[in-house]
Amino acid sequence: MSGPLGWVRDHMPVLGALAEEYRDTQPFAGHTVAVNSHLEAKTGRLIEVIAAAGADVLVTGSEPYSTQAAVVAALEEHERITLFVEAGMDEKAWASGQHELLAASPDLIIDDGCELIAKVHADHPGVASGVIGAAEQTTAGITRLEAMESDGILQFPVFGVNDTPMKHHFDNVHGTGESSLANLMITTNMMLSGATVVVAGYGFCGRGIARKARGLGAQTIVTEVDPRKALAAYMDGHRVMSLEEAAPKAEYVITATGNRDVVRAEHAEAMADGAILANAGHFDVEIDVDALETAAIRVTTPREGVRQYEMADGRRINLLAAGRLVNLTGPVSQGHPAEVMDTTFAMMAVAIEAFTRDSSDLSPGLHPIPDRLDKAVAELKLDTLDVSIDSLTHRQEAYLHEWNHADMHF
Ligand code: NAI
Repeated sequence: MSGPLGWVRDHMPVLGALAEEYRDTQPFAGHTVAVNSHLEAKTGRLIEVIAAAGADVLVTGSEPYSTQAAVVAALEEHERITLFVEAGMDEKAWASGQHELLAASPDLIIDDGCELIAKVHADHPGVASGVIGAAEQTTAGITRLEAMESDGILQFPVFGVNDTPMKHHFDNVHGTGESSLANLMITTNMMLSGATVVVAGYGFCGRGIARKARGLGAQTIVTEVDPRKALAAYMDGHRVMSLEEAAPKAEYVITATGNRDVVRAEHAEAMADGAILANAGHFDVEIDVDALETAAIRVTTPREGVRQYEMADGRRINLLAAGRLVNLTGPVSQGHPAEVMDTTFAMMAVAIEAFTRDSSDLSPGLHPIPDRLDKAVAELKLDTLDVSIDSLTHRQEAYLHEWNHADMHF
């Protein structure tokens, strides 16, 4: 398979190293792996690696509008891969595709946003009982899994890949930071330097967006609901205030909260003419688009990927990518850089591979990934970057495990 996957293959060396290992060991032989992820080139690479490792792979997209036709076409050529998604599907067709996929009884699930895990529990209980394990990639999915866990309904073990350092310190911070701003700048053809950028949410994603926006010369304002995150933003040098206070100052507002109705009618009401809204959170509920539709006297598309709401007082508020993930669903969106998806997808692969070996007896529920797997992917990444690090001496190792330093006379 070449085409759209060729370029990313060259830029995902960690996944490449795993592919070589898996080609020999065939860890997924006899398994049916469901993959629910944004169906762009990096995901295509993960899917071909899993298929070459012996699996039958069933594929759907984690967002109806992030599927890329060229990637679908490339994957369709593979006899072990079955697709239940196509580019340009509406939400109804997308959801039906996910149910059809589940009816094909996968026993391992790679999920993004907890779509398949939630649906298999709600609507396919017979299939759920045959699943040996799953891995969840994003914060929004972990939030849903925690709700399922507290309701005591999870029927199989799930590794929370999002919560590993190798995922959220890199993918959420750097991947979301770079790809959201890159897409915002290309979609609008406008400059961030000197502009006032308001970032709602100072979690891993918001931190990356705010830091990189400032790196480009923007004046950054952060809004938060958690006092510790607000303080962290303040100490990192961003201005911190309520969204009500920030809205009139904003040239750009970027949401990354994992929450709903963050930008509401009253905020849009206070924004200046030309303000630009974009969402980087997983679901399209962070900006209240219905409120914009209701308040506007006219809605136009001045540029591909930009919806403009003209208010009764003449102000125009611009919304990118219809309030969906700006880095994945806009007209120029490509998702995160390949180098960072290299480690995220390596984590997803090693997580589900663990269910075929030593994690096969884990109890149902949400589990952290074993630290050794996280470290192993970090080591592989450093190798590919040709970066070497120090290792602990025996004395250092012992020192770190000793509480009574006075007794350490060796
Ligand atoms: P996080 O939990 O680290 O951060 C979210 C932050 O938003 C928290 O600090 C929380 O206090 C804050 N928050 C919640 N409600 C708020 C409100 N009303 N106003 C202001 N702040 C509020 O989560 P993380 O990892 O930063 O993820 C955020 C979202 O981005 C999730 O939906 C996640 O799934 C998604 N995501 C998107 C990616 C992309 O490619 N665009 C990649 C990775 C994650």
